[in-house]
Formats: sequence, C-alpha cells, structure tokens
Amino acid sequence: LKVGILISGRGSNMAALVEAARDPAFPAEVCCVLSNRPDAKGLEFARERGIPALLIDHKAYTSKAEFEAAVTEALVAHAVDFVCLAGFMRIVSPAFIERWHNRLINIHPSLLPSYKGLHTHERALADGVKLTGCTVHFVRAEMDVGPIVAQAAIPVLSGDTPDSLAARLLTAEHRLYPLALRLIAEGKATVNGETVDIAADAV
Ligand code: GRF
Repeated sequence: LKVGILISGRGSNMAALVEAARDPAFPAEVCCVLSNRPDAKGLEFARERGIPALLIDHKAYTSKAEFEAAVTEALVAHAVDFVCLAGFMRIVSPAFIERWHNRLINIHPSLLPSYKGLHTHERALADGVKLTGCTVHFVRAEMDVGPIVAQAAIPVLSGDTPDSLAARLLTAEHRLYPLALRLIAEGKATVNGETVDIAADAV
C-alpha cells in the first residue's frame, strides 16, 4: 500500500506511522506527508526522514474544491493510493471522500460513536466516563462516522485533566494507527464482520 499522510500540526501520529513503516515487513510505505499549514511541526520530521514533505496551504485557494484538487493531484503525483488523516484539521468534502472511497482513514480521540467532533476529553470528563479511547475509521461524508477499523481503550483516572487524558491516550493512538493500517494493507480489516477489500475500490 502506498500511503500519503495529511497533517495540520504536531504530526505525532504521522511519525508513528512513518516509524512503523520503516520495518521492511510492514505492508505499507509512506510516500509523502502533506500539510495544509506552513508551521506544521510534522513537516520537519518527515523531511528529516527523507520523506517528501509537501505544503498545500488552503489559504492560497479560493475554494475548498480547488484546495482539495491540489491535494489529490499532489498525492497522485507521489503515487499514493491510500490516505491517512492524522490531525488534519480541515473537514474534507464529500467529493474528496468519494474520490478516495475506502482509501481514506482517520484517527479520532474517542471511542466512536461517542464524542464525535472536537473537545472529546473535556466532554468525556464532564460525563464522568471511566473509559475512553481512540478510533481508526474509514471516512464517510458525515464527520466521525464511518466503518470502524480498530479501537483502543484507556482508563480515565481520578484527577485526570483534558491534557493528562490526551497525553495518555496519545501513546495508545501511536500503537493503534499502525496496527489499523497494517490490518487494512493485509486485507484483514473487517467491518461489521465483513473483510474490507480495498482492492475493489480502484483508484
Ligand atoms: C490526535 O489526538 C488525533 O487523534 C486527532 O488529532 C490529534 C493529532 O495529533 N485527530 P498529532 O498531530 O498526530 O500529534
């Protein structure tokens, strides 16, 4: 699988995917990292690892359609056939999702379908839940809805703050995202009991 990773900031999940893919036995290769923000820290990491680090600043485009067309063009130019969103802070349009149907996944910091959207940890703490976690899912037109590939749960501890919870969850995210990508690349991902055959969705 030839993977492109879209980021907007820190890029720690992207880094976890890049590190996992350094293992020759890992069934996916990271072809490029693309950010919509010039100041994304993750771009430096990619560059240091010799991975093409691309900047496509959404502010340089007059419409989302033009921005996304440029993103798709850059991904295709780098031979990408599968896209991982990793802290990419732009909502992608239905057209982009359709273009990458079943070839576009995201990691979200909650146990979906609970806590879609932003501020997941604040809301989880306010509700007093005792477990939270992260989810890797295929992207569909509705935000944070889509076939779940893999999840990991962590306990909420007394005294947790949104920041402490986010930090503890992040280590679980860094294990989960490579695991989920591996499952997909090996044709072992199942959704509602059915194997996901990404080869059926030709690019
Ligand atoms: C992660 O918490 C991820 O779940 C969410 O955005 C954050 C990105 O962090 N979608 P990073 O840029 O991967 O470090």
